[in-house]
Amino acid sequence: MTEQPVPAQQSETAPAGDHQPIKQRKNGLYPAVSDELAAHMRGGWADTELRGLEPLPQAAETARRRAALSRRFPGERLVVPAGNLRTRSNDTEYPFRAGTEYAYLTGDQTEDGVLVLEPAADGGHEAVLHVLPRSDRENGEFWLDGQGELWVGRRYSLSENERRLGLPCRDVRKAAGELAESAGPVRLVRGHDAGLEEALAGRLDPARDEELRVFLSELRLVKDAFEIGELQKAVDSTVRGFEDVVKVLDRAEATSERYIEGTFFLRARVEGNDVGYGSICAAGPHATTLHWVRNDGPVRSGELLLLDAGVETHTLYTADVTRTLPVNGRFTDLQRKIYDAVYEAQEAGIAAVRPGAKYRDFHDAAQRVLAERLVEWGLVEGPVERVLELGLQRRWTLHGTGHMLGMDVHDCALARTETYVDGTLEPGMCLTVEPGLYFQADDLTVPEEYRGIGVRIEDDILVTEDGNRNLSAALPRASTEVESWMARLKG
Ligand code: GLY
Ligand code: MN
Ligand code: MN
Repeated sequence: MTEQPVPAQQSETAPAGDHQPIKQRKNGLYPAVSDELAAHMRGGWADTELRGLEPLPQAAETARRRAALSRRFPGERLVVPAGNLRTRSNDTEYPFRAGTEYAYLTGDQTEDGVLVLEPAADGGHEAVLHVLPRSDRENGEFWLDGQGELWVGRRYSLSENERRLGLPCRDVRKAAGELAESAGPVRLVRGHDAGLEEALAGRLDPARDEELRVFLSELRLVKDAFEIGELQKAVDSTVRGFEDVVKVLDRAEATSERYIEGTFFLRARVEGNDVGYGSICAAGPHATTLHWVRNDGPVRSGELLLLDAGVETHTLYTADVTRTLPVNGRFTDLQRKIYDAVYEAQEAGIAAVRPGAKYRDFHDAAQRVLAERLVEWGLVEGPVERVLELGLQRRWTLHGTGHMLGMDVHDCALARTETYVDGTLEPGMCLTVEPGLYFQADDLTVPEEYRGIGVRIEDDILVTEDGNRNLSAALPRASTEVESWMARLKG
Protein backbone atom coordinates (compact mmCIF):
# COMPACT_ATOMS: atom_id res chain seq x y z
CA MET A 1 0.00 0.00 0.00
CA THR A 2 1.32 3.45 -0.79
CA GLU A 3 1.54 6.08 1.88
CA GLN A 4 -0.72 9.09 1.50
CA PRO A 5 0.03 12.62 2.57
CA VAL A 6 -1.79 13.13 5.83
CA PRO A 7 -2.41 16.24 7.88
CA ALA A 8 0.49 17.23 10.09
CA GLN A 9 1.35 20.30 12.12
CA GLN A 10 2.57 22.78 9.54
CA SER A 11 4.77 24.31 12.22
CA GLU A 12 6.75 21.08 12.37
CA THR A 13 7.83 21.43 8.78
CA ALA A 14 10.23 23.79 7.13
CA PRO A 15 8.51 26.98 5.99
CA ALA A 16 7.32 26.61 2.40
CA GLY A 17 9.30 29.49 0.92
CA ASP A 18 9.67 30.02 -2.79
CA HIS A 19 12.31 27.38 -3.33
CA GLN A 20 12.09 25.35 -0.19
CA PRO A 21 10.55 21.91 -0.47
CA ILE A 22 7.73 21.20 1.94
CA LYS A 23 9.61 18.04 2.66
CA GLN A 24 11.03 15.99 5.47
CA ARG A 25 9.26 12.79 6.24
CA LYS A 26 8.30 12.46 9.87
CA ASN A 27 7.31 9.03 11.06
CA GLY A 28 7.36 7.91 7.44
CA LEU A 29 4.78 10.50 6.45
CA TYR A 30 4.95 13.63 4.33
CA PRO A 31 3.61 16.91 5.71
CA ALA A 32 0.11 18.22 5.23
CA VAL A 33 -1.28 19.33 1.91
CA SER A 34 -4.95 19.50 1.00
CA ASP A 35 -6.52 16.38 -0.45
CA GLU A 36 -7.39 18.40 -3.52
CA LEU A 37 -3.77 19.45 -4.10
CA ALA A 38 -2.51 15.92 -3.47
CA ALA A 39 -4.94 14.61 -6.06
CA HIS A 40 -4.06 17.42 -8.45
CA MET A 41 -0.35 16.56 -8.25
CA ARG A 42 -0.87 12.83 -8.56
CA GLY A 43 -2.06 12.55 -12.12
CA GLY A 44 -1.61 14.01 -15.56
CA TRP A 45 2.03 13.05 -16.09
CA ALA A 46 3.36 11.57 -19.32
CA ASP A 47 5.12 8.20 -19.47
CA THR A 48 8.79 9.14 -19.94
CA GLU A 49 10.34 5.66 -19.76
CA LEU A 50 13.45 5.59 -21.96
CA ARG A 51 13.13 2.42 -24.00
CA GLY A 52 16.10 2.57 -26.36
CA LEU A 53 18.94 2.82 -23.82
CA GLU A 54 22.24 1.22 -24.76
CA PRO A 55 24.57 -0.43 -22.22
CA LEU A 56 27.34 1.83 -20.90
CA PRO A 57 30.57 1.52 -22.90
CA GLN A 58 32.30 -0.07 -19.89
CA ALA A 59 29.51 -2.58 -19.14
CA ALA A 60 31.55 -5.56 -20.39
CA GLU A 61 34.49 -4.47 -18.24
CA THR A 62 32.40 -4.04 -15.09
CA ALA A 63 31.04 -7.58 -15.61
CA ARG A 64 34.59 -8.92 -15.92
CA ARG A 65 35.61 -7.10 -12.72
CA ARG A 66 32.64 -8.52 -10.82
CA ALA A 67 33.57 -12.00 -12.05
CA ALA A 68 37.09 -11.56 -10.66
CA LEU A 69 35.64 -10.45 -7.33
CA SER A 70 33.28 -13.41 -7.30
CA ARG A 71 36.13 -15.88 -7.86
CA ARG A 72 38.10 -14.44 -4.94
CA PHE A 73 35.30 -14.77 -2.35
CA PRO A 74 33.25 -17.88 -3.19
CA GLY A 75 30.16 -18.52 -1.06
CA GLU A 76 30.20 -15.12 0.64
CA ARG A 77 27.76 -12.24 0.28
CA LEU A 78 29.67 -9.11 -0.83
CA VAL A 79 28.23 -5.65 -0.33
CA VAL A 80 29.63 -2.59 -2.10
CA PRO A 81 27.83 0.71 -1.42
CA ALA A 82 27.97 3.94 -3.44
CA GLY A 83 27.64 6.07 -0.31
CA ASN A 84 25.11 8.69 0.70
CA LEU A 85 24.70 12.42 0.40
CA ARG A 86 26.45 14.35 3.12
CA THR A 87 24.82 17.37 4.67
CA ARG A 88 26.62 20.67 4.35
CA SER A 89 24.04 22.54 6.38
CA ASN A 90 20.33 22.04 6.94
CA ASP A 91 18.91 20.79 3.63
CA THR A 92 21.99 21.58 1.56
CA GLU A 93 24.34 18.76 0.59
CA TYR A 94 27.91 18.51 -0.60
CA PRO A 95 28.34 17.42 -4.21
CA PHE A 96 28.10 13.64 -4.31
CA ARG A 97 30.92 11.46 -5.57
CA ALA A 98 30.23 7.73 -5.63
CA GLY A 99 32.61 5.37 -3.86
CA THR A 100 35.38 4.26 -6.19
CA GLU A 101 34.78 0.53 -5.63
CA TYR A 102 31.07 0.87 -6.45
CA ALA A 103 31.64 2.90 -9.60
CA TYR A 104 34.40 0.51 -10.70
CA LEU A 105 32.18 -2.54 -10.36
CA THR A 106 28.93 -1.11 -11.74
CA GLY A 107 29.59 1.97 -13.89
CA ASP A 108 26.84 3.65 -11.84
CA GLN A 109 27.41 6.78 -9.76
CA THR A 110 24.14 7.50 -7.98
CA GLU A 111 23.88 8.07 -4.26
CA ASP A 112 22.52 5.34 -2.01
CA GLY A 113 23.17 2.56 -4.54
CA VAL A 114 24.37 -0.81 -3.20
CA LEU A 115 25.88 -3.60 -5.25
CA VAL A 116 25.36 -7.02 -3.70
CA LEU A 117 27.01 -10.18 -4.94
CA GLU A 118 24.70 -12.93 -3.74
CA PRO A 119 26.29 -16.39 -3.46
CA ALA A 120 24.77 -18.69 -6.08
CA ALA A 121 24.23 -22.45 -5.98
CA ASP A 122 26.91 -23.06 -8.64
CA GLY A 123 29.57 -21.54 -6.38
CA GLY A 124 29.64 -18.19 -8.14
CA HIS A 125 27.51 -15.15 -7.41
CA GLU A 126 24.52 -13.33 -8.79
CA ALA A 127 25.21 -9.59 -8.87
CA VAL A 128 22.21 -7.44 -7.98
CA LEU A 129 22.15 -3.66 -7.93
CA HIS A 130 19.97 -1.96 -5.35
CA VAL A 131 19.23 1.62 -6.38
CA LEU A 132 16.64 4.30 -5.86
CA PRO A 133 13.78 3.87 -8.34
CA ARG A 134 11.89 6.74 -9.95
CA SER A 135 10.09 8.90 -7.38
CA ASP A 136 6.62 7.75 -6.43
CA ARG A 137 3.85 9.97 -7.79
CA GLU A 138 1.06 8.24 -5.91
CA ASN A 139 2.25 9.18 -2.43
CA GLY A 140 3.62 12.59 -3.44
CA GLU A 141 7.27 11.68 -2.86
CA PHE A 142 8.33 13.19 -6.18
CA TRP A 143 7.41 16.71 -5.05
CA LEU A 144 7.09 16.51 -1.25
CA ASP A 145 10.43 14.87 -0.56
CA GLY A 146 13.55 17.05 -0.74
CA GLN A 147 15.26 14.28 -2.69
CA GLY A 148 12.22 13.77 -4.91
CA GLU A 149 12.78 14.00 -8.64
CA LEU A 150 10.95 17.30 -8.91
CA TRP A 151 13.61 18.88 -6.70
CA VAL A 152 16.79 17.09 -7.72
CA GLY A 153 16.08 15.79 -11.22
CA ARG A 154 14.91 12.65 -12.93
CA ARG A 155 16.51 9.33 -12.02
CA TYR A 156 16.77 6.25 -14.17
CA SER A 157 13.99 3.74 -13.59
CA LEU A 158 14.98 0.27 -12.42
CA SER A 159 14.42 -1.18 -15.90
CA GLU A 160 16.38 1.64 -17.54
CA ASN A 161 19.24 0.97 -15.14
CA GLU A 162 19.09 -2.74 -15.94
CA ARG A 163 19.69 -1.92 -19.60
CA ARG A 164 22.42 0.68 -18.94
CA LEU A 165 24.37 -1.34 -16.43
CA GLY A 166 23.66 -4.94 -17.44
CA LEU A 167 22.60 -5.84 -13.91
CA PRO A 168 19.28 -6.82 -12.31
CA CYS A 169 18.09 -3.81 -10.29
CA ARG A 170 15.89 -3.61 -7.20
CA ASP A 171 14.60 -0.87 -4.92
CA VAL A 172 17.42 -0.02 -2.52
CA ARG A 173 15.07 0.99 0.27
CA LYS A 174 14.56 -2.67 1.08
CA ALA A 175 18.24 -3.61 0.87
CA ALA A 176 19.37 -3.00 4.45
CA GLY A 177 16.50 -5.05 5.88
CA GLU A 178 17.02 -7.91 3.44
CA LEU A 179 20.74 -8.00 4.09
CA ALA A 180 20.25 -7.93 7.85
CA GLU A 181 17.98 -10.97 7.58
CA SER A 182 20.14 -12.90 5.12
CA ALA A 183 22.06 -15.97 6.24
CA GLY A 184 25.73 -16.74 5.74
CA PRO A 185 28.95 -14.75 5.73
CA VAL A 186 28.89 -11.11 4.61
CA ARG A 187 31.64 -8.71 3.73
CA LEU A 188 31.06 -4.97 3.31
CA VAL A 189 33.15 -2.21 1.79
CA ARG A 190 33.13 0.17 4.75
CA GLY A 191 33.38 3.91 4.94
CA HIS A 192 30.59 4.83 2.54
CA ASP A 193 27.22 3.93 4.03
CA ALA A 194 26.81 4.26 7.79
CA GLY A 195 23.22 2.96 7.64
CA LEU A 196 24.30 -0.32 6.10
CA GLU A 197 27.16 -0.67 8.55
CA GLU A 198 24.67 -0.27 11.37
CA ALA A 199 22.19 -2.71 9.82
CA LEU A 200 24.91 -5.33 9.46
CA ALA A 201 26.68 -4.65 12.76
CA GLY A 202 27.31 -7.93 14.52
CA ARG A 203 27.54 -9.76 11.19
CA LEU A 204 30.72 -8.04 10.10
CA ASP A 205 34.36 -8.60 10.88
CA PRO A 206 36.66 -5.60 10.31
CA ALA A 207 39.61 -7.74 9.22
CA ARG A 208 37.54 -9.65 6.63
CA ASP A 209 36.03 -6.40 5.35
CA GLU A 210 39.51 -4.98 4.99
CA GLU A 211 40.51 -8.00 2.85
CA LEU A 212 37.69 -7.09 0.49
CA ARG A 213 38.87 -3.50 0.14
CA VAL A 214 42.48 -4.59 -0.30
CA PHE A 215 41.45 -7.02 -3.05
CA LEU A 216 39.49 -4.31 -4.87
CA SER A 217 42.42 -1.93 -4.55
CA GLU A 218 44.77 -4.50 -6.08
CA LEU A 219 42.26 -5.38 -8.82
CA ARG A 220 42.60 -1.80 -10.03
CA LEU A 221 46.41 -1.84 -10.30
CA VAL A 222 46.37 -2.86 -13.98
CA LYS A 223 44.11 -0.74 -16.16
CA ASP A 224 42.09 -2.13 -19.06
CA ALA A 225 41.76 -0.46 -22.45
CA PHE A 226 38.63 1.45 -21.42
CA GLU A 227 40.38 2.86 -18.37
CA ILE A 228 43.46 3.88 -20.33
CA GLY A 229 41.23 5.73 -22.79
CA GLU A 230 39.54 7.54 -19.90
CA LEU A 231 42.87 8.45 -18.30
CA GLN A 232 44.02 9.90 -21.61
CA LYS A 233 40.80 11.95 -21.81
CA ALA A 234 41.41 13.23 -18.28
CA VAL A 235 44.95 14.23 -19.22
CA ASP A 236 43.88 15.88 -22.49
CA SER A 237 41.33 18.04 -20.65
CA THR A 238 43.97 18.83 -18.06
CA VAL A 239 46.37 19.99 -20.77
CA ARG A 240 43.69 22.38 -22.02
CA GLY A 241 43.13 23.56 -18.44
CA PHE A 242 46.83 24.39 -18.08
CA GLU A 243 46.72 26.31 -21.35
CA ASP A 244 43.70 28.24 -20.05
CA VAL A 245 45.69 29.21 -16.97
CA VAL A 246 48.72 30.45 -18.90
CA LYS A 247 46.43 32.66 -20.97
CA VAL A 248 45.03 34.44 -17.90
CA LEU A 249 48.17 34.84 -15.79
CA ASP A 250 47.91 38.62 -16.08
CA ARG A 251 44.44 38.48 -14.52
CA ALA A 252 45.75 36.22 -11.79
CA GLU A 253 48.46 38.81 -11.10
CA ALA A 254 45.73 41.40 -10.73
CA THR A 255 43.74 39.21 -8.33
CA SER A 256 45.14 36.08 -6.67
CA GLU A 257 45.85 32.36 -6.98
CA ARG A 258 42.06 31.92 -6.87
CA TYR A 259 41.86 33.14 -10.46
CA ILE A 260 44.01 30.19 -11.46
CA GLU A 261 41.95 27.74 -9.43
CA GLY A 262 38.71 29.07 -10.93
CA THR A 263 40.06 29.01 -14.46
CA PHE A 264 41.15 25.39 -14.21
CA PHE A 265 37.91 24.42 -12.47
CA LEU A 266 35.90 25.87 -15.36
CA ARG A 267 37.66 23.50 -17.77
CA ALA A 268 37.14 20.57 -15.37
CA ARG A 269 33.42 21.20 -15.04
CA VAL A 270 32.81 21.88 -18.72
CA GLU A 271 34.73 18.86 -20.03
CA GLY A 272 34.62 16.48 -17.09
CA ASN A 273 32.90 15.74 -13.82
CA ASP A 274 35.09 17.77 -11.49
CA VAL A 275 38.69 18.22 -10.48
CA GLY A 276 40.13 14.92 -9.24
CA TYR A 277 41.55 16.62 -6.12
CA GLY A 278 41.86 20.13 -4.77
CA SER A 279 43.93 22.12 -7.27
CA ILE A 280 47.27 23.30 -5.90
CA CYS A 281 47.77 26.81 -7.29
CA ALA A 282 50.90 27.80 -5.46
CA ALA A 283 52.64 31.03 -6.42
CA GLY A 284 55.98 32.21 -5.02
CA PRO A 285 56.88 30.64 -1.66
CA HIS A 286 53.56 28.77 -1.50
CA ALA A 287 55.13 26.33 -3.96
CA THR A 288 57.13 24.93 -1.05
CA THR A 289 53.92 23.87 0.74
CA LEU A 290 53.17 20.47 -0.75
CA HIS A 291 49.40 20.61 -0.53
CA TRP A 292 48.76 24.33 -0.84
CA VAL A 293 45.03 24.38 -1.64
CA ARG A 294 44.03 27.60 0.11
CA ASN A 295 45.04 29.36 -3.09
CA ASP A 296 44.47 32.80 -1.65
CA GLY A 297 47.88 34.34 -2.19
CA PRO A 298 49.26 36.87 -4.64
CA VAL A 299 50.68 35.97 -8.05
CA ARG A 300 53.76 38.04 -8.82
CA SER A 301 55.91 38.57 -11.88
CA GLY A 302 59.42 37.23 -11.31
CA GLU A 303 58.16 34.35 -9.15
CA LEU A 304 57.22 30.79 -10.03
CA LEU A 305 53.75 29.29 -10.13
CA LEU A 306 53.51 25.62 -9.19
CA LEU A 307 50.22 24.34 -10.60
CA ASP A 308 49.25 20.78 -9.65
CA ALA A 309 45.80 19.98 -11.01
CA GLY A 310 43.82 17.26 -12.75
CA VAL A 311 40.48 16.97 -14.50
CA GLU A 312 38.29 14.03 -13.47
CA THR A 313 36.28 12.56 -16.34
CA HIS A 314 32.58 11.77 -16.24
CA THR A 315 33.57 8.17 -15.50
CA LEU A 316 35.70 9.35 -12.54
CA TYR A 317 39.22 8.84 -13.89
CA THR A 318 41.57 11.65 -12.95
CA ALA A 319 44.76 13.16 -14.28
CA ASP A 320 47.43 14.44 -11.87
CA VAL A 321 49.80 16.86 -13.55
CA THR A 322 52.18 19.53 -12.26
CA ARG A 323 53.99 22.26 -14.07
CA THR A 324 56.13 24.94 -12.48
CA LEU A 325 55.93 28.07 -14.59
CA PRO A 326 57.64 31.46 -14.43
CA VAL A 327 54.75 33.90 -13.99
CA ASN A 328 56.28 36.39 -16.44
CA GLY A 329 57.25 33.69 -18.93
CA ARG A 330 61.04 33.65 -18.28
CA PHE A 331 62.97 31.70 -15.64
CA THR A 332 65.68 33.60 -13.73
CA ASP A 333 69.10 31.91 -13.76
CA LEU A 334 68.61 30.39 -10.30
CA GLN A 335 65.04 29.30 -11.00
CA ARG A 336 66.26 27.63 -14.18
CA LYS A 337 69.12 25.87 -12.41
CA ILE A 338 66.72 24.36 -9.88
CA TYR A 339 64.06 23.61 -12.50
CA ASP A 340 66.54 21.89 -14.80
CA ALA A 341 67.73 19.67 -11.94
CA VAL A 342 64.16 18.56 -11.27
CA TYR A 343 63.61 18.02 -14.99
CA GLU A 344 66.73 15.87 -15.19
CA ALA A 345 65.53 13.87 -12.19
CA GLN A 346 62.14 13.38 -13.80
CA GLU A 347 63.76 12.23 -17.06
CA ALA A 348 65.74 9.65 -15.09
CA GLY A 349 62.58 8.58 -13.25
CA ILE A 350 60.50 8.21 -16.41
CA ALA A 351 63.30 6.22 -18.07
CA ALA A 352 63.07 3.70 -15.22
CA VAL A 353 59.38 2.97 -15.85
CA ARG A 354 59.04 -0.24 -17.84
CA PRO A 355 57.50 -3.68 -17.40
CA GLY A 356 59.57 -5.87 -15.10
CA ALA A 357 61.18 -2.93 -13.30
CA LYS A 358 60.68 -2.69 -9.56
CA TYR A 359 58.15 -0.05 -8.54
CA ARG A 360 60.83 1.64 -6.43
CA ASP A 361 63.26 2.04 -9.35
CA PHE A 362 61.85 5.30 -10.70
CA HIS A 363 61.92 6.88 -7.26
CA ASP A 364 65.51 5.80 -6.69
CA ALA A 365 66.60 7.06 -10.10
CA ALA A 366 65.06 10.49 -9.55
CA GLN A 367 66.36 10.82 -5.98
CA ARG A 368 69.89 10.03 -7.12
CA VAL A 369 69.90 12.92 -9.60
CA LEU A 370 68.52 15.33 -7.02
CA ALA A 371 71.08 14.23 -4.42
CA GLU A 372 73.87 14.73 -6.96
CA ARG A 373 72.76 18.30 -7.67
CA LEU A 374 72.35 19.15 -3.99
CA VAL A 375 75.89 17.96 -3.31
CA GLU A 376 77.21 19.80 -6.37
CA TRP A 377 75.59 23.05 -5.18
CA GLY A 378 77.17 22.64 -1.77
CA LEU A 379 73.86 22.38 0.09
CA VAL A 380 74.69 19.03 1.63
CA GLU A 381 78.00 17.36 2.19
CA GLY A 382 78.79 14.36 -0.06
CA PRO A 383 79.53 11.85 -1.18
CA VAL A 384 76.22 11.20 -2.92
CA GLU A 385 76.10 7.58 -1.69
CA ARG A 386 76.24 8.81 1.90
CA VAL A 387 73.50 11.37 1.27
CA LEU A 388 71.24 8.72 -0.28
CA GLU A 389 71.99 6.16 2.40
CA LEU A 390 71.08 8.60 5.17
CA GLY A 391 68.25 10.17 3.15
CA LEU A 392 69.68 13.65 3.72
CA GLN A 393 68.34 14.97 0.40
CA ARG A 394 64.83 14.52 1.74
CA ARG A 395 65.01 17.84 3.58
CA TRP A 396 64.40 19.34 0.11
CA THR A 397 62.80 16.51 -1.90
CA LEU A 398 60.20 15.83 0.80
CA HIS A 399 57.90 13.26 -0.83
CA GLY A 400 57.92 10.02 -2.79
CA THR A 401 58.43 10.39 -6.52
CA GLY A 402 55.01 9.11 -7.57
CA HIS A 403 52.00 6.90 -7.04
CA MET A 404 49.45 4.86 -8.94
CA LEU A 405 46.81 6.89 -10.75
CA GLY A 406 43.28 5.96 -11.79
CA MET A 407 39.83 6.63 -10.35
CA ASP A 408 41.52 7.94 -7.23
CA VAL A 409 44.40 10.33 -7.54
CA HIS A 410 46.34 8.19 -5.08
CA ASP A 411 44.95 5.05 -6.63
CA CYS A 412 45.05 1.53 -5.21
CA ALA A 413 46.15 2.99 -1.89
CA LEU A 414 45.13 -0.11 0.05
CA ALA A 415 47.14 -2.52 -2.07
CA ARG A 416 49.59 -4.53 0.00
CA THR A 417 53.22 -3.44 0.12
CA GLU A 418 54.31 -6.60 -1.70
CA THR A 419 52.01 -5.88 -4.67
CA TYR A 420 52.54 -2.11 -4.83
CA VAL A 421 55.56 -0.44 -3.25
CA ASP A 422 57.66 -3.61 -3.25
CA GLY A 423 56.03 -4.87 -6.43
CA THR A 424 56.98 -5.03 -10.10
CA LEU A 425 55.63 -2.83 -12.87
CA GLU A 426 53.31 -4.44 -15.41
CA PRO A 427 51.82 -3.21 -18.70
CA GLY A 428 48.60 -1.33 -17.97
CA MET A 429 49.77 0.23 -14.73
CA CYS A 430 49.59 4.01 -14.72
CA LEU A 431 51.61 6.11 -12.33
CA THR A 432 52.85 9.61 -11.77
CA VAL A 433 56.51 10.58 -11.86
CA GLU A 434 56.80 13.81 -9.89
CA PRO A 435 60.14 14.75 -8.35
CA GLY A 436 60.50 18.13 -6.71
CA LEU A 437 62.85 20.41 -4.84
CA TYR A 438 61.50 22.71 -2.16
CA PHE A 439 63.47 25.37 -0.34
CA GLN A 440 61.33 26.70 2.48
CA ALA A 441 61.25 30.45 3.03
CA ASP A 442 62.68 29.96 6.55
CA ASP A 443 65.36 27.38 5.66
CA LEU A 444 68.57 28.82 7.05
CA THR A 445 70.67 25.93 5.68
CA VAL A 446 70.47 27.21 2.10
CA PRO A 447 71.64 30.53 0.62
CA GLU A 448 69.04 33.26 0.91
CA GLU A 449 68.33 33.39 -2.83
CA TYR A 450 67.11 29.76 -2.79
CA ARG A 451 64.55 30.39 -0.07
CA GLY A 452 60.93 30.35 -1.17
CA ILE A 453 61.59 28.48 -4.42
CA GLY A 454 59.64 25.26 -5.00
CA VAL A 455 59.67 23.21 -8.20
CA ARG A 456 57.77 20.04 -9.06
CA ILE A 457 57.21 18.47 -12.47
CA GLU A 458 54.62 15.72 -12.64
CA ASP A 459 53.52 13.55 -15.54
CA ASP A 460 51.18 10.59 -15.93
CA ILE A 461 53.03 7.58 -17.25
CA LEU A 462 51.48 4.39 -18.60
CA VAL A 463 53.53 1.20 -18.46
CA THR A 464 53.40 -0.38 -21.93
CA GLU A 465 54.55 -3.76 -23.28
CA ASP A 466 57.95 -2.34 -24.22
CA GLY A 467 58.48 0.63 -21.93
CA ASN A 468 56.17 3.49 -21.17
CA ARG A 469 54.03 6.21 -22.68
CA ASN A 470 53.80 9.69 -21.21
CA LEU A 471 50.08 10.47 -21.35
CA SER A 472 50.78 14.13 -20.53
CA ALA A 473 53.57 14.62 -23.09
CA ALA A 474 51.51 17.35 -24.80
CA LEU A 475 52.52 19.75 -22.01
CA PRO A 476 56.11 20.96 -22.46
CA ARG A 477 58.56 20.15 -19.66
CA ALA A 478 62.06 21.33 -20.63
CA SER A 479 62.61 24.89 -19.36
CA THR A 480 63.19 26.44 -22.79
CA GLU A 481 60.16 24.65 -24.21
CA VAL A 482 58.03 25.85 -21.31
CA GLU A 483 59.12 29.41 -22.10
CA SER A 484 58.32 29.23 -25.80
CA TRP A 485 54.97 27.49 -25.08
CA MET A 486 54.05 30.27 -22.65
CA ALA A 487 55.12 32.97 -25.12
CA ARG A 488 52.91 31.40 -27.79
CA LEU A 489 49.89 31.19 -25.52
CA LYS A 490 50.26 34.66 -24.06
CA GLY A 491 50.44 35.96 -27.66
N1 GLY B 1 48.26 16.18 -6.37
C1 GLY B 1 48.71 15.33 -5.36
C2 GLY B 1 49.85 14.56 -5.83
O1 GLY B 1 50.53 14.97 -6.73
O2 GLY B 1 50.08 13.47 -5.39
MN1 MN C 1 49.87 16.20 -8.29
MN1 MN D 1 50.70 13.07 -7.77
